[in-house]
Amino acid sequence: MPQPKFARESTTVMTEMVLPNDTNTLNNLMGGRLLHFMDIAAAIAAQKHSNRIVVTASVDNVSFAQPIRLGNIVTMQAQVTRSFNSSMEVFIDVWAEDIPAGIRVSTNSAFYTFVAVDQSGRPIEVPAVVPETDDEKDRYKSALRRRQLRLVLAGRMNPADATELREFLMV
Ligand SMILES: CC(C)(COP(=O)(O)OP(=O)(O)OC[C@H]1O[C@@H](n2cnc3c(N)ncnc32)[C@H](O)[C@@H]1OP(=O)(O)O)[C@@H](O)C(=O)NCCC(=O)NCCS
Repeated sequence: MPQPKFARESTTVMTEMVLPNDTNTLNNLMGGRLLHFMDIAAAIAAQKHSNRIVVTASVDNVSFAQPIRLGNIVTMQAQVTRSFNSSMEVFIDVWAEDIPAGIRVSTNSAFYTFVAVDQSGRPIEVPAVVPETDDEKDRYKSALRRRQLRLVLAGRMNPADATELREFLMV
């Protein structure tokens, strides 16, 4: 039986520099490239939590509110918020920094879901998450309704069974 782990034991910080090959014709980081960076950072957090091979099962909505420029430093902090049986929800926060200008802005955040698998690709049980801070506890609690929403949207859960989500939406 996998032992519980504290959320911050599986926190990962990853840093990238935006290079010409990462950008569109306006010299801004391409959205798909950012999602790729985020996927890697979040996968590392999930691997650290589970000590297993993990695969991306889903990505919740990601907004691109402002451009990240060529030459910016992109920092991603990923943390497992909650695990279920074989799946783990990972919260990822992204900042962009223009070092010469001394400007650092928060640009994106997202929830990724990873599933731990064995050597044959079959889902395998992962340790529980023990949240410590108030933020960790809030995300742990709300993870249940986010899981229900993504499973309903993926056609893997009957909306009638999504009790926490329905309670939140008051429907
Ligand atoms: C993710 C995957 C392992 C699930 O396998 P499966 O045979 O459907 O397994 P199950 O139905 O037993 O589900 C396993 C877990 O995945 C979760 N899951 C499956 N689809 C999901 C989705 N769309 N969103 C969130 N979680 C999902 C289930 O809720 C379950 O979680 P739990 O064990 O914590 O309760 C399988 O679909 C897969 O290998 N997908 C491809 C992964 C991949 O290649 N990713 C990169 C894409 S480019």
